[in-house]
Amino acid sequence: MKLGRAALGLLLLAPLAVRAVEPISLGLALAGVLTGYISYPRLYCLFAECCSPKRSLSREALQKDLDSKLFGQHLAKKVILNALSGFISNPKPKKPLTLSLHGWTGTGKNFVSKIIAENIYEGGLNSDYVHLFVATLHFPHISNITLYKDQLQSWIRGNVSACARSIFIFDEMDKMHAGLIDAIKPYLDYYDNLDGVSYQKAIFIFLSNAGAERITDVALDFWRSGKQREEIKLKDMEHALSVSAFNNKNSGFWHSSLIDRNLIDYFVPFLPLEYKHLKMCIRVEMQSRGYEVDEDIVSRVAEEMTFSPKRREFSPTKAVKPCSPS
Ligand SMILES: *[C@@H]1O[C@H](CO)[C@@H](O)[C@H](O)[C@H]1NC(C)=O
Ligand SMILES: *[C@@H]1O[C@H](CO)[C@@H](O)[C@H](O)[C@H]1NC(C)=O
Repeated sequence: MKLGRAALGLLLLAPLAVRAVEPISLGLALAGVLTGYISYPRLYCLFAECCSPKRSLSREALQKDLDSKLFGQHLAKKVILNALSGFISNPKPKKPLTLSLHGWTGTGKNFVSKIIAENIYEGGLNSDYVHLFVATLHFPHISNITLYKDQLQSWIRGNVSACARSIFIFDEMDKMHAGLIDAIKPYLDYYDNLDGVSYQKAIFIFLSNAGAERITDVALDFWRSGKQREEIKLKDMEHALSVSAFNNKNSGFWHSSLIDRNLIDYFVPFLPLEYKHLKMCIRVEMQSRGYEVDEDIVSRVAEEMTFSPKRREFSPTKAVKPCSPS
């Protein structure tokens, strides 16, 4: 997109360069360019990424992306697809869309955030309208919490004023200081506007490991009783993602404070990946990096990081995370 802006800059500058030679036509040329610019917003959008309240999302394209890139997550796929297409097509949402993604690292939470961003803005995570915050990276020092709070609020306010359809992604939500969660709460609520700014078209995505163990337990229960993973229904995860499940020392606070006020619209569980899903991810990742798919390497990488219901072994922190490129 940076290139696009530069191109637009050149377009506008070009008539100025002619000035010395043809002073009279300058006004005309400039007027022409400006009229084109103003009356053809689509043309403008070819050069620079646009934030338009009418920005649409193709349900088919999103579905295709999820189907071809996200494996072993039938629940997440379904919820994300319905939540997003419903929200974006609603001309007057009552509150911003808030999604809470739960599961071990490497199951696809970051990946799904990336897919969402890309389906709304071509620039994806690099778009000017998509903001990613990682708790330990952006807000590391408890002693500076007041500063972070002010910053975060002014960023959210500033960005949503500039673009109503802004996307905010908060990674490592379980490591976020309670004060910061308090700071963003008002923006998630049912207000028509706060100090003249409406947040109802914004999208907030929270990622965390909270509840991951419970989700794994449910998956294991299904496996033990000989049922297919795809038979797991959202309602089977209800307990795993309920308030009580989060009442532990690490993730209790933010959850209960957001859940109590019904500020989270959708809880999205990410199941632990099995060997076959990992292999699918690895193949896609190899292809996207321009390598030939080598089944030997695929198997070796997958073995490195397999979740096996039999052994109940799972290594979420292994370095290779094919399903969640950062
Ligand atoms: C807190 O912020 C101030 C001002 O930006 C900075 O000088 C200080 O080093 C920060 N403290 C920590 C612990 O990062
Ligand atoms: C938008 O958010 C970014 C952080 O992602 C921040 O650096 C920037 O200053 C914000 N813009 C406004 C206008 O507040």
